[in-house]
Amino acid sequence: MLLRFAFTSMPKLIAGPGTAGRLGDVAAPFGHRVLLITGAGALERSGHLFRIKKDLQSTGLQVHHFRIAGEPSPAVIDAVVDECRDQAPDLVLAVGGGSVLDAGKAIAAMLKENGSVIDYLEGVGTQTPSGRSLPMIAVPTTSGTGSEATKNAVISQVGDGGFKKSLRHDNYIPRLAILDPELCLSAPPHITAACGMDALTQLIESYVSSQASPLTDALAMEGLRKLIPALRETCGQGSMDIGCRGAVAYGAFLSGVTLANAGLGVVHGVAGPMGGLVDVPHGVACANLLPYAVAATVDNLTAADTLESMGSIEKFACIAKLFGAVQNNSVDRCRHLVDSLHQWLDDLAIPRLGQYGLTSAHVDLLVSNPSNKNNPRPLSAEQIARMIQSRC
Ligand SMILES: [Fe+2]
Repeated sequence: MLLRFAFTSMPKLIAGPGTAGRLGDVAAPFGHRVLLITGAGALERSGHLFRIKKDLQSTGLQVHHFRIAGEPSPAVIDAVVDECRDQAPDLVLAVGGGSVLDAGKAIAAMLKENGSVIDYLEGVGTQTPSGRSLPMIAVPTTSGTGSEATKNAVISQVGDGGFKKSLRHDNYIPRLAILDPELCLSAPPHITAACGMDALTQLIESYVSSQASPLTDALAMEGLRKLIPALRETCGQGSMDIGCRGAVAYGAFLSGVTLANAGLGVVHGVAGPMGGLVDVPHGVACANLLPYAVAATVDNLTAADTLESMGSIEKFACIAKLFGAVQNNSVDRCRHLVDSLHQWLDDLAIPRLGQYGLTSAHVDLLVSNPSNKNNPRPLSAEQIARMIQSRC
């Protein structure tokens, strides 16, 4: 067997209930001045913000706090960077959902660059990131994007000419990720469901990716084994179950590791641009598209009938087993997987895409420049259009 692949670094990881209570101790070695980035209010309402600030200050750290509401735009990142540059922070500590972690990553990087973040975004700007960045600690309070383990920050501009693009460099992987499931307990069911479906999609897409390696396969399967049984629990009876919350947080972290090393598929190829056109939560977009993408991909793999495509079908069949598939035939197991994913849309009350104002004009735009990313077989424009329209 000939092995040939590369694997970028992972953040140092501290996981377990109560680990966020040690933030002062883990932040202190990076310096004295901490730039704390959080979301608009959830952390405050849960009481965690007060405790985190008190812990940092009692360790002798100076805390400068910024709140970021919603997905970060270039204007928001530039404004925070302009305001913070003179204070010369030593590190960025981002505590919040995926958008907050992305904002923290972009701010940490832009404090070491000149100009606007828009100049450095892939496919938008003309500048190449130098890779210089302040050290960054990521503490997720939702379990979804895996941003705490990735090398990119997603920056969004919604509306006409809108985009959702990445600021990316290997050096932007956080120095430290802290997975404290206690911080996730207050996430409401609709947020838990949408974020969890993003993580599930990332694990599935990176597992079957054309760029997958034995190492990403092992990590993605570990994430799927932990996340699949726990996710529906956390959206219902198990919302206060610290074990389930921890399992989903771990799965989401691993999805960040595997997407950074194996890439993603057609769901993310469509969900990204869709998020630039209408204000649909990323996880909701992924959840809606996933069953149709799996079905069409398996159809195309079956039609291709190559050794490689059969290998990809076996991978989908392995995932199907985690959803309870018992059929002998791999393609039948894949059908079970598709049926299960459709059922999850209902069970987790995932809103349809049409509720966010997605129209046929948007579908035409999305299909005009489709990206299959690293899907194991590409979907045609017609298949992508059907995939989106099925949930409008
Ligand atoms: Fe995602």
